[in-house]
Amino acid sequence: MEINTRRPRRNRRTESIRAMVQETRLHPSQFIVPFFLVEGEAIREEISSMPGVFRFSLDEALKEAAICLELGLTAFILFPAIPEGKKDKYATWSYHPECSYLKAIAAFKAQFPQCTVITDVAMDPYSSDGHDGIYENGQILNDQTLSVLGKMAVAQAQAGADILGPSDMMDGRVGYLRKALDEAGFTQVGIMSYTAKYASCFYGPFRDALDSAPKHGNKLSYQMHPANRREAMLEAQLDEEEAADFLMVKPALAYLDIISDLKQHSVLPIVAYNVSGEYAMVKAAAARGWLDEKRAVEEILTSIKRAGADIIISYFAKDFFSHKA
Ligand code: PBG
Repeated sequence: MEINTRRPRRNRRTESIRAMVQETRLHPSQFIVPFFLVEGEAIREEISSMPGVFRFSLDEALKEAAICLELGLTAFILFPAIPEGKKDKYATWSYHPECSYLKAIAAFKAQFPQCTVITDVAMDPYSSDGHDGIYENGQILNDQTLSVLGKMAVAQAQAGADILGPSDMMDGRVGYLRKALDEAGFTQVGIMSYTAKYASCFYGPFRDALDSAPKHGNKLSYQMHPANRREAMLEAQLDEEEAADFLMVKPALAYLDIISDLKQHSVLPIVAYNVSGEYAMVKAAAARGWLDEKRAVEEILTSIKRAGADIIISYFAKDFFSHKA
């Protein structure tokens, strides 16, 4: 029997050769660690649908951040859980000087000036309707929402945020925020746009964590339909024109084709958000002994990177790099 002289298995023969030809590697400098913040002190509540992930009061969050920094994880994305009594129709608490989230941003930067603090810009945590924009008579008022987001963004920049993460999917918000930031003197503050954010069931555990599910209706009029691929390119083009500094795809695993598309068509860094439901699935299967968790996590994170993500936001980051250390 004739066999081709080219034998790909030669490059898989030894550990050393395999390592040499490995195309994709995971490094902590390219990860962002999410934090869920609650008001109060000494609080460390595990989220039932996300075992190993906690809601932290600021003091506990700072302790956790110190551990992350030792592992080389220097970028944090912060999400607030806001008490029901502070929510209203126009999310005014989001830019109130007493807002615990703004204080947390300042505290992270004061304690760890070397870290990168990324924020969430959207109305839902502060909205009595649980929507990312102003909700009236079953409609989201896009352009009126921009002025709320602008105030929120400037307040976050004033608090010391390095990069803002608009996750609301309103039209025109990247350009609007860029202008608001520049006019307020924050030309150095970056925008990591949730460019292609899909209307996904995989956000379920996150909404439990923050109690931020919509009170009525759903998010289909602003988040993208999971069936659409080309539409992500339109969002990416607009975000680039509007001066976004990073383009994000969310969720990650069911959207590897979108990550790959954006990587090919843009020179901006591509971020993938490995979301709460993607974390919960692995944890649930591992708890039953149906999956080897360590291997599953490494394979998933590698796949997201291989598809084209330069940066990954993941609830697995701390655990993954603790095992590596
Ligand atoms: C909301 C927001 C969501 C997530 C991040 N920002 C949920 C949503 O859009 O309903 C989800 C993150 C995750 O599931 O891990 N602005």
